[in-house]
Amino acid sequence: MKMLQVAIVQLAALQVFVIFLSGGADYIPPSRLDGFVYQNGYLDLDTVLIEAFYDPVCPYSRDSWPPLKQALHHYSSRVSFLLHLLPLPYHDNAFVATRALHIVNTLNASATFPLLEWFFKHQEKFYGAQTRNLSRASIVDEIVKSATEAAGSSYYNAIKHGFNDTKTDYQTRVSFKYAASRGVYGTPSFYVNGFLLPDTGATADYKTWRKVIDPLVGVKKSIQNEESLRFFL
Ligand SMILES: *[C@@H]1O[C@H](CO)[C@@H](O)[C@H](O)[C@H]1NC(C)=O
Ligand SMILES: *[C@@H]1O[C@H](CO)[C@@H](O)[C@H](O)[C@H]1NC(C)=O
Ligand SMILES: *[C@@H]1O[C@H](CO)[C@@H](O)[C@H](O)[C@H]1NC(C)=O
Repeated sequence: MKMLQVAIVQLAALQVFVIFLSGGADYIPPSRLDGFVYQNGYLDLDTVLIEAFYDPVCPYSRDSWPPLKQALHHYSSRVSFLLHLLPLPYHDNAFVATRALHIVNTLNASATFPLLEWFFKHQEKFYGAQTRNLSRASIVDEIVKSATEAAGSSYYNAIKHGFNDTKTDYQTRVSFKYAASRGVYGTPSFYVNGFLLPDTGATADYKTWRKVIDPLVGVKKSIQNEESLRFFL
């Protein structure tokens, strides 16, 4: 038993050592918190914070966005929304799509959500059999063109260059690692004020969002609201 414990400690120490040596640590922690705030708003801790983990080429993420967006507009300034991206390894082109969103967000933050919606609308183009013969370069070209439409035509070269810039690669890796560090392994996943929305968020429709958020904003200061507690317990 003792030997085993020693071995485990040694293994853990070795892992830490390897992580430092591998250079993977040089962009962790990132210079800012991961995520895109909806409508360029600010994160206000006095509002209800909704966080979503989306993959831009995930059909379930796509389907969950319109009702969530409707709820965000309904609650307006009473709710903040922070979008995290989790490019899933088993979705073709998820990483490059996520990278495009980081690039565009840096250049023209207002175009981030329009580009996300563009990916949702056209995501079939980017996965499965029809992409088998497409080169990575041709997919990047296609994404650069579409990202330019969302961000503005003056950004074409900047977006193209963005795919050559290791910084945007790091930002995209940080998104992946951030999701992993919170134990998120699927999309869409939703958190409300830091707690996982139960019943797998994939099926959350507008009514569900109202049911979750209404009690939280309605009786904001009497925190022990039974209805909301019941939902989480
Ligand atoms: C991909 O290329 C192979 C070999 O040239 C061809 O048989 C196949 O039909 C192509 N698939 C698509 C989806 O274009
Ligand atoms: C930034 O993106 C928004 C949304 O797509 C667009 O309306 C705006 O014109 C863009 N800004 C510039 C400077 O192109
Ligand atoms: C990207 O990098 C490659 C290889 O370093 C270079 O040939 C290409 O011109 C670069 N493209 C842009 C848009 O910077």
